[in-house]
Amino acid sequence: MTGILVHGGRLIDPASGLDERLDLLIVDGRIAQVGADLPLPPGTEHLAASGLIVAPGFIDLHTHLREPGQEHKETIASGARAAARGGFTTICAMPNTEPALDSAAVIDGMLQRARDVDCRVLAIGAVSIGRRGQELAELAALRDAGAVAVSDDGDAVADASLARRAFEYLSDLHIPLAEHCEDPAIAQGGVMHDGAVSARLGLRGQPAAAELSIVQRDIALAEAAGAQLHACHISTEPSLQAIADARARGLHVTAEVTPHHLFLTHDVVAGSGDDLLYDTNAKVNPPLRTESDVQACIDALVAGVVDAVATDHAPHAAVDKQCEFDAAAFGISGLESAWPVVNSLVESGRLTLSEAIERLTIGPVRAWNLDRGELSGLGTLRVGAPADVTLLSTDAVSRVEPDSWASMGKNTPLAGHTLSGVVAATISQGRIVWDGREQ
Ligand code: DOR
Ligand code: ZN
Repeated sequence: MTGILVHGGRLIDPASGLDERLDLLIVDGRIAQVGADLPLPPGTEHLAASGLIVAPGFIDLHTHLREPGQEHKETIASGARAAARGGFTTICAMPNTEPALDSAAVIDGMLQRARDVDCRVLAIGAVSIGRRGQELAELAALRDAGAVAVSDDGDAVADASLARRAFEYLSDLHIPLAEHCEDPAIAQGGVMHDGAVSARLGLRGQPAAAELSIVQRDIALAEAAGAQLHACHISTEPSLQAIADARARGLHVTAEVTPHHLFLTHDVVAGSGDDLLYDTNAKVNPPLRTESDVQACIDALVAGVVDAVATDHAPHAAVDKQCEFDAAAFGISGLESAWPVVNSLVESGRLTLSEAIERLTIGPVRAWNLDRGELSGLGTLRVGAPADVTLLSTDAVSRVEPDSWASMGKNTPLAGHTLSGVVAATISQGRIVWDGREQ
């Protein structure tokens, strides 16, 4: 028997409405007891949590690991270490690997390699073979291999007839199509948001309409098929309005926003300081948008129109970013800065602490119905649930220093920012995988 007593912290479990100073006993990878002044059983490790928040481990619906195929950018193990440091105990791996996660065999191989890493890794299957948008992958086989959703993320399922057939199959499989909402005919290779900043910098922009076009199309297709649309990384006000309307009509439409779209605008693409004309670390897809879009994302998150904060962790090698803006890769390494960014909304009074934790825990679980089978209890601190626990501080201050990150991807436009909110420790399936309390 192995055990940990998490002692003296403020337990916040949005799934059960709990917010109280209590102890938490973990035995053999499960939450065994929650209560006041629990005695320390013999042979049990004592984890001091006074002054800290004790929350369910975070769940990320949108993580790019680069294995198989691009292990120079991130491996499953390094991505899982980054997750642990960021307070995440479950991450859903996007299928744009090489090869893509488009068959049961590739998913199986990835999940095998993910077995003993520092967090739970779930798979997202590809919608189309090779993510090429031409032939449907065997969606039922992907689901049977463990895929919790399917997505061609990185690209939309641009062909409407393919998307229609995907939704039709998915209506029987009960997993969502996690769509990257970007109509390529409208985005036209834009490298940033189409607006005042792109005009000033002379960079090709992609307009908000590129996102809205696919959101509206997919709402119609999902409704017709009776399937679930999950709109990934929504970044603009009109798309959020369309999603709010669809949900108000009772459709099965869920959505996520990223920390960066809640915090940064397209202005940061212009870089800062004297010698920086562009910051390629701010190149991301969907692009950073306007201040009113940022506010709309926050409002939608507060209103519950958006179910989850998902990182879209997209690690890249330095050479992929140290180049001209047009040639740079899209993506922000996000796992290790997610909590301080979300906590900034708590600090500014936009979200309550419990709401912030909800959107990182039970919110994503409900969105994808993950509380089933061996994942029963995921996203909660219920007795019997998997012992996935995150210890957080809201007021400790730290600088974003990607050089000290576990992720191999150091690409973030937040480097050097000082933010409050620290992940003090992370327990994944009953094992302490990160302990930053002494650091
Ligand atoms: O910025 C992005 N990076 N957006 C995507 O859709 C894909 C991702 C990646 O895989 O690098
Ligand atoms: Zn992505």
